[in-house]
Amino acid sequence: MACIGIMDSGVGGLSVFREIRKALPNEHFIYFSDNAHCPYGEKTPAYIRERLDKITALFLSRGVDVMVLACNTATAAGVEYLRQKYSIPFIGMEPAVKPAALGTETKVIGVLATAGTLKGSKYLNTKGRFEDQVTIVEQVGKGFVELVEKGQLSGPEAESVVKASLKPLLDAGADRIVLGCTHYPFLLESLRKVAASLGHPEVKFIDPAPAVATHLIEVMEQRGISHGDGSSRIELLASGDDSALQRTFSLI
Ligand code: DGL
Repeated sequence: MACIGIMDSGVGGLSVFREIRKALPNEHFIYFSDNAHCPYGEKTPAYIRERLDKITALFLSRGVDVMVLACNTATAAGVEYLRQKYSIPFIGMEPAVKPAALGTETKVIGVLATAGTLKGSKYLNTKGRFEDQVTIVEQVGKGFVELVEKGQLSGPEAESVVKASLKPLLDAGADRIVLGCTHYPFLLESLRKVAASLGHPEVKFIDPAPAVATHLIEVMEQRGISHGDGSSRIELLASGDDSALQRTFSLI
C-alpha cells in the first residue's frame, strides 16, 4: 500500500483526488489544502515554492511515497524545483491543450486558468507546440477559485462570475475549453449552463484529472512503489479552517 500526498491551494485538488481514488481505491491518501494561503493564482513563484517546501516537509514526515501537485499554478511555479531538491517522485498537472487541439472542429480552443499558470514555461511550451495548428485563446477564471472555496458552485452569482470569463472564449469561436485550474471542474454545471444560454450547448470542457491519475500509476510502477494491497485510508488536512475541505470532500 502506498502513501500518496496530494496538495492544492485549497479544495480544487479534490477534483483530481476524485479521479485518483477511482483508479487507486486501496491506498493511504493525505490531502493538504493550503487554504490559509489561497489563492495561489496571483502569488509569485518564489512564494509558492516556499509553501511547497513546507508542505513537502510535512508529507515526508508522514511517510509520503509520491506527491501530486493537484494544482496547475503550483506545478508551474515549483514542480521542477521540487524534483531537483527531493528524491520522491512529483506528479504535476498538464494543461490539456493536446486533447483540445485534436478534438476541435472550429480550430479555436479556449484555455481557462490562473494568471500564474498562463505565464508559466510549462504552459507556454505546450501552447507553442500547437499554435500553428489551432488558435488558442485564454482567460483567467476571475473569481472562480473564490466561488469554489465558498461552496457557491451554482446559482445566479456563480453563473454571472463564470459568464464574464467564458463569454470571450465562446465569442472567439472556441468549441473546446481546457480547464487549466483544478478548482474549475467544480463549476462545470454553471459553465455548461452559461455556454448553453449563450447559444453554445455543444462546447466541450476538458479536465486533465483522469490523465493525471493514469500518469500517477505509471510513475509509481516505474519507481517500484507498490500499490493496491491495502484498505483505503484518507486524511484531510488544511492550513486554515477546514470546513470548506470537509464540505467539498462530501461532494466527491
Ligand atoms: N487549484 C489551483 C490551480 O490548479 C490554484 C488556484 C489558486 O489558488 O489560484 O491552479
